Amino acid sequence: MAGGLAALCEAACRRPTRTLTVPSITAAAHTVLGNPPDVQVALRAVPGEAVLDLERPGASRVWRFEGELLAGPKDTLSFFEQSYLGPTFRVRRGQRVRVHFENALDEPSIVHWHGLSVSQENDGHPRLAVNKHESYAYDFTVDNPAGTYWYHPHPDGRTGAQVYAGMSGLFLVVDDDDQARGLPGAEFDIPVVLQDRALDSDGQLLYDPNPMMGMLGDRMFVNGNPNITQRVKAGTYRLRLLNGSNARIFKLAWSDGSPMTVIGSDGGLLAAPVTKPYVMLGPAERVELWADFGRAPAGEEVALESQAFAAAGGMMGMRGGARVPNGTPFQACRFSVEGRGRRLTLPTQLRPLAWRPPTEVVNLERPRRFDVTMTMMRFLLNDRSFEMTSVAPDERVKLDTTEDWEFRNGGGMMAMPHPIHVHGGQFEIVERAVSPGAERAWSTVGDGLINEGWKDTFLLMPGERVRIRLRFERHAGLFLYHCHNLEHEDMGMMRNFSVEA
Ligand code: C2O
Ligand code: CU
Ligand code: CU
Repeated sequence: MAGGLAALCEAACRRPTRTLTVPSITAAAHTVLGNPPDVQVALRAVPGEAVLDLERPGASRVWRFEGELLAGPKDTLSFFEQSYLGPTFRVRRGQRVRVHFENALDEPSIVHWHGLSVSQENDGHPRLAVNKHESYAYDFTVDNPAGTYWYHPHPDGRTGAQVYAGMSGLFLVVDDDDQARGLPGAEFDIPVVLQDRALDSDGQLLYDPNPMMGMLGDRMFVNGNPNITQRVKAGTYRLRLLNGSNARIFKLAWSDGSPMTVIGSDGGLLAAPVTKPYVMLGPAERVELWADFGRAPAGEEVALESQAFAAAGGMMGMRGGARVPNGTPFQACRFSVEGRGRRLTLPTQLRPLAWRPPTEVVNLERPRRFDVTMTMMRFLLNDRSFEMTSVAPDERVKLDTTEDWEFRNGGGMMAMPHPIHVHGGQFEIVERAVSPGAERAWSTVGDGLINEGWKDTFLLMPGERVRIRLRFERHAGLFLYHCHNLEHEDMGMMRNFSVEA
């Protein structure tokens, strides 16, 4: 399945690259001296098989991450049963992690640690992609607060295809304080990775992205498994949701009408729990929910539904062609409640969050502006598409400064939502504004947009302007910002920015 496509892409997708100030990096060039690593993992990208259709016996072809713990605490890696997902990392803040990545696929790949603040050598930039049978050595110290992060490939032009084929996994940063905070732990702390997929008549993964909307499937997978029903006890759970889909946007709500209690987002716990009628979750976003299944009578099922919303700027006709367009209602995940569990009391406070004061922002009056546009099938950021190493003058920032960035989605008939992601760590969402013409569509999603807590990805809706506050710390170098609709990204809605000392 790979050979033909990879060869095609070699010819067609090669974009001109200009080499600028970016030094080339080899795996050997960044051996870090100091403490020995706390954790060592071998991670291989391999072709494999998984059960993708419950109605059909036999396995289907996938690509996946295979992991092996070489050194470190035994609970560092855990594996989903019956899943195409890679191993779940469970690492503590301050631990030094070494990952030996080996590519056994027929095309280049590289691993990105989504949401982690790491040096450019460890960030999985497409220029670092390695070919078949080559490897790449990661070596970084985990510096993020406890939270739900993830990893996935990031090669130029093929990120969507590789993630879709099965390559992604969770990277949990944990600490000892959660018990003291009164949060559910152990078997009551569970991941819920939401992904949509489509299968062809042979039960194989079908990757045929819509040229505008990206790859939208017609069936759900939860934690890499086609069985979307999770068994839970009648107690309180911490659900760590990740939208690991390529292009699917969820508007999640409980089927019994209970409000959603949000306790965490991309960069860990919120300051305090918030309730929302529903939660919008764009590709790559995470949300942590406090879920009390004790509210359901034993033997009942409760579902997370994705509700209807207005996804496109206006023209309904534009939604034609996509398999199940964004905004179509469906069931995302089911919980069947069996047996007794412990019901906990929701804490009123979770953790203090230290926001950067406006006085520290170097461009408070004139935030850096990024126009996010799709015209004539070109996906652009400030009228540019991705070039491997080039950085425009307005894409250079200074190390150890705090800036405001403002992303604008033009609106209009053709506008669509874009999940915007910035590499290098977590930021604050400072402000959202909607243009008058887009207000009606926006009102179908507005109450569920996640602005709380530290974020690395946010939904930028049609006609919307979102201002974020970022601090460039510790790591100088070349990083990416892009749309996390993976097909938009692969089609060029991605740019470098350079952090300069
Ligand atoms: Cu999760 Cu640059 O991506
Ligand atoms: Cu990222
Ligand atoms: Cu996009």
